[in-house]
Amino acid sequence: MSQSLPITGTTYVEFYVGNAKQAAHYYQSAFGFQPLAYAGLETGLKDRTSYVVKQDKIVFVLTAGLTPDSEVTEHQKLHGDGVKVIALTVDNATQSFTETVKKGAKPHFEPREESDENGKVVLSAIKTYGDAVHIFVENKNYNGIFLPGYIKWEPDYQPEDTGLLFVDHIVGNVGWNEMDEVAGFYRDVMGFDQLISFDDKDISTEYTALKSKVMANDNMRIKFPINEPAKGLKKSQIEEYLDFYIGPGPQHVAMATADIVKTIAALRDRGVDFLEVPDAYYETVSERVGEIAEDMDQLKRHRILIDRDDKGYLLQLFTKPVQDRPTFFFEIIDRKGAESFGKGNFKALFESIEREQGNRGTL
Ligand code: FE2
Repeated sequence: MSQSLPITGTTYVEFYVGNAKQAAHYYQSAFGFQPLAYAGLETGLKDRTSYVVKQDKIVFVLTAGLTPDSEVTEHQKLHGDGVKVIALTVDNATQSFTETVKKGAKPHFEPREESDENGKVVLSAIKTYGDAVHIFVENKNYNGIFLPGYIKWEPDYQPEDTGLLFVDHIVGNVGWNEMDEVAGFYRDVMGFDQLISFDDKDISTEYTALKSKVMANDNMRIKFPINEPAKGLKKSQIEEYLDFYIGPGPQHVAMATADIVKTIAALRDRGVDFLEVPDAYYETVSERVGEIAEDMDQLKRHRILIDRDDKGYLLQLFTKPVQDRPTFFFEIIDRKGAESFGKGNFKALFESIEREQGNRGTL
């Protein structure tokens, strides 16, 4: 966004799910999120219930519909569990709405003020790819725990965190030949710059291929890689996503940690499933990435992936899909200077994804 409308961060990511109570428990028990806030029948809502969980700067809202005709229920019926809202913290939500809509954004809802005894917020929203939306959150005059309308959620169950710190980037999958249009939306409407692009020659394996453009705002706190499928011998993992999500949508949220070995070990202990990385990956990795501070045996034991760019290196690993449909997943990332997204790992990653696709019979 232009200098006059800075985005200071990701306020929260909202998932529309089939059962918010159980989803919230999963994010607490498996990922170490802490309970923060709640809204539902008890707070006067009629059609939905939301549990808000937090880990350092990462805030997730898990929302489920309470009635068959709720917008949430309909979204979940079509897409399965998935990300509906990527909320962005802005200085002025009215101006963010007016300016983006003037530049061609489709409105989702008009600016509105909400307040309680802790102050006021202004919210507005525009549509992005698929059925996902961006809510602009102006909360500089609000001191409550989350947003007006939510009450504090304080269950006895508060498992330890796993060292997750902030949202590093959020990837969107879009349809065939739609990447340029969506990247153009982030450039022309949101004022983002293109960091990098990959084509199918960079990101392909024997069977699958994709193209990607990475769009970022001016302070680089918001990074949105946009993927589209490319022709391969068999079905691309992006196509599999599109088939099961029934259209474009957010593919993964990358969460940063400052100690990936500790974080991955904790997540594995709590039952989070990660993509399998072949042994052979570690035979050539030192050659590819050179000297790194971490103990390679430890990285291999936890199946952590390593990549390097001209600024440094990064450590990352991807979960398996976190719902029944093979759609949304998480990335855990620990940047040691690198500003890229692990292009060198795509081949290793895709080979492991394809083995799983093969197991599901959808390759
Ligand atoms: Fe990523």
